[in-house]
Amino acid sequence: MTGVAQSAQAPASSLVALLPEFARSEHDNNQTGAAHPEIPVIDMASCCCGARMAEAAREWGIFQLVNHGVPASAVSELQRVGREFFALPQAEKQRFAMDPASGKTEGYGCTMQRDIPGGNKKTWGNFLFHNVAPPSAVNHAVWPENPEGYREANEAYCGHMRRLTRTLFERLSAGLGLEEGAMAESFGGDEVVFLHKINFYPPCPQPELALGVAPHTDLSALTVLVPNEVPGLQVSRDGRWHDVEYVPGALIVHIGDQIEILSNGTYKAVLHQTTVSKEKTRMSWPVFVEPPMELVVGPHPRLITGECPDKYKAKKFMDYKYCKINKLPQ
Ligand code: SIN
Ligand code: FE2
Repeated sequence: MTGVAQSAQAPASSLVALLPEFARSEHDNNQTGAAHPEIPVIDMASCCCGARMAEAAREWGIFQLVNHGVPASAVSELQRVGREFFALPQAEKQRFAMDPASGKTEGYGCTMQRDIPGGNKKTWGNFLFHNVAPPSAVNHAVWPENPEGYREANEAYCGHMRRLTRTLFERLSAGLGLEEGAMAESFGGDEVVFLHKINFYPPCPQPELALGVAPHTDLSALTVLVPNEVPGLQVSRDGRWHDVEYVPGALIVHIGDQIEILSNGTYKAVLHQTTVSKEKTRMSWPVFVEPPMELVVGPHPRLITGECPDKYKAKKFMDYKYCKINKLPQ
């Protein structure tokens, strides 16, 4: 088998069409074409991982982490309770429905078939989210008591996120020429807030007319995300969308708006969206790491110079969030 179809009229050596099984997908072609850059996969056990993280935060605003020290069992338990929650009857999930109008901003929500402005696409997904730390920000009444082990899985995973976030903040601070503790301190130290979300995107009959989430940057400082094996996350760079490859066991780190602001634009909040699948359910488990509501975030004073004046207004995180959610100018 040569992998080519030959025309009956043409000389035997003429190649007229690739047989389908040998045809590369558009995606493969992109990889081998004009050397499209890859989203960095960073080994945290390697000695140069801090420099690679800083470079990825400048160039992409996103990277994947391997050898991150979060046990596979903690990740799979988080995924198990998430999958089991979404498998519950709708009425049971609905008991935890969020209702921002009545001030209930945490809980179960649905974005199925909402119009995405600026096109003919609609969103296609459901989610559950709530704060996990610090204790003063947690309301256990909005956490499902079903499935069994939900609370333990979320609390254990949050402990790992605390440790990992501390390291990420240290490395990213150093990459800006700041002291290691500068970023953690600017985001509230022990008062930094951890929000857990579970995204559930069921199979979609017309995936070309839908997105799991519309293009956005995260308003967090950073986001650490576990995906399932169904691809769909895409990030924008140089005017095109890049697929985030599924790397088994990796955690995906998004730089959010607050790090972009603190770094005075050196690090970039990544613009991203998700596609949906016709046959498969995609799920993801992001943890948003945010400053406390009252904390004022602005460019770090050491990063404001005569050559590089401040590019962002300093403001309370709650005001930033309000403007972003209500699509008001910052
Ligand atoms: C999101 O950005 O909210 C979701 C990302 C994902 O599902 O991978
Ligand atoms: Fe996001």
